[in-house]
Amino acid sequence: MLEIIDNADLSTRTSLRLQGRVDRLIRVHHPAELADVKRALRGSFRGLLGEGSNSVFGAHIQGTLLQIAWRGYERIGHDRILAHAGEHWDELVQWSLCQGLQGLENLSMIPGSVGAAPIQNIGAYGVELSQCFVALEAIHWESMTRKRFSLEDCQFSYRSSVFKAPSHQHWIISHIELQLNRQATSAHLLSGQLASDHLPAGHLRSEYQASERLTSEHLTSKHLQSEHLASAAEAYVHGPSDQGRSSPTSMLNFRYPDLQAHFRDSRPQTALELAQVIRQIRSSKLPDPEIEPNAGSFFHNPRLHNEAALALKARFPRMPIYPDGAHHHKLSAAWMIDQCGLKGQREGDVGVSAKHALVLVNYGKASGDMLIAFAQGIIDLVQARFGLELTIEPRVLLA
Ligand code: EPU
Repeated sequence: MLEIIDNADLSTRTSLRLQGRVDRLIRVHHPAELADVKRALRGSFRGLLGEGSNSVFGAHIQGTLLQIAWRGYERIGHDRILAHAGEHWDELVQWSLCQGLQGLENLSMIPGSVGAAPIQNIGAYGVELSQCFVALEAIHWESMTRKRFSLEDCQFSYRSSVFKAPSHQHWIISHIELQLNRQATSAHLLSGQLASDHLPAGHLRSEYQASERLTSEHLTSKHLQSEHLASAAEAYVHGPSDQGRSSPTSMLNFRYPDLQAHFRDSRPQTALELAQVIRQIRSSKLPDPEIEPNAGSFFHNPRLHNEAALALKARFPRMPIYPDGAHHHKLSAAWMIDQCGLKGQREGDVGVSAKHALVLVNYGKASGDMLIAFAQGIIDLVQARFGLELTIEPRVLLA
């Protein structure tokens, strides 16, 4: 059943907790409801809301926002998974690891929903979603037709995809399919038991295909909490039945500087171990949105041709730069903001986190307009000092 909320408070629905309201918010619990919603709206549709972890809204949004609330995930074969758009991304990551599936460990603890993940091609610790992506299915808001988008169709690049282009903003992602690597482990067996206690294999897909509404009883099971992950990891690393598993370590990517610093001369033994290290690093480096409301990285890291990047490096020898393909380098926006003396700086209720210079924080009752004005000040200072124009990463909708 649809949930319709008039004059909805947006501050409780985004991780930045900016003050703001929307004329109407409709929570949609099944893709099959979209056609009815469209008929009822008659043109007032303004956009989609997932978990609100990458969105900046102004004080009053006119029209209607749709919140995608269909959830669930399942294995659709040996080593493939299917996940519905409204599912929590990190819950999917934890579940896949506990299923003995390797591939999402570096993307642990990224806030947000599954449906938002391909739009910005989420990435962290040297891995991007595109690396394990197979396809997604989406519904076109105008025609209500369904289409399968392959990896090529999605045109993934750094924090971007075809769905960011104006021509593709009317596609609503229904579910995604990912290709992971299977590892036979004791944790796999253990977590298989945990998962089957709560979510019978295949239940979601068959119900979905039958176009029944997905009920919250089916879909909100918190079946893999962190203690389960911890015990699964323990079994995986130390369990007596651990011998003879396939060697997963060659697949693990721990080249990112923070991970190199952690492992030094050793290496992660399992995907679960790597995931737990990444969780620790993220917790220590990034502010917790529950305590300091934020939307993660607020700016993209600039990507420059080798020549321009090396010229800048010559002017600022301590600037971190990372090769990105044969012809480009990626630069660190956090470092530049930090060098401008902005880390930890506040202006009223908005500021740059004292923990990480790429994260902007709402310290009280800030509005979207205040935050964007503050961000523009940062863009201007970085431009004046480094000659580069930072671009804002979250989706911004101010009116
Ligand atoms: N740095 C500073 N000051 C700071 C923070 C970082 O000088 O306050 C320097 C670091 O010393 C390091 C460099 O900046 O040399 C890079 O920092 P970090 O490793 O934290 O990564 P990042 O480039 O700032 C990106 C992603 C993050 C992701 C991390 C880890 C973008 C826009 N951000 O941040 O993603 O977690 O790498 O992979 O690409 C997000 O998108 O919301 C997000 C948090």
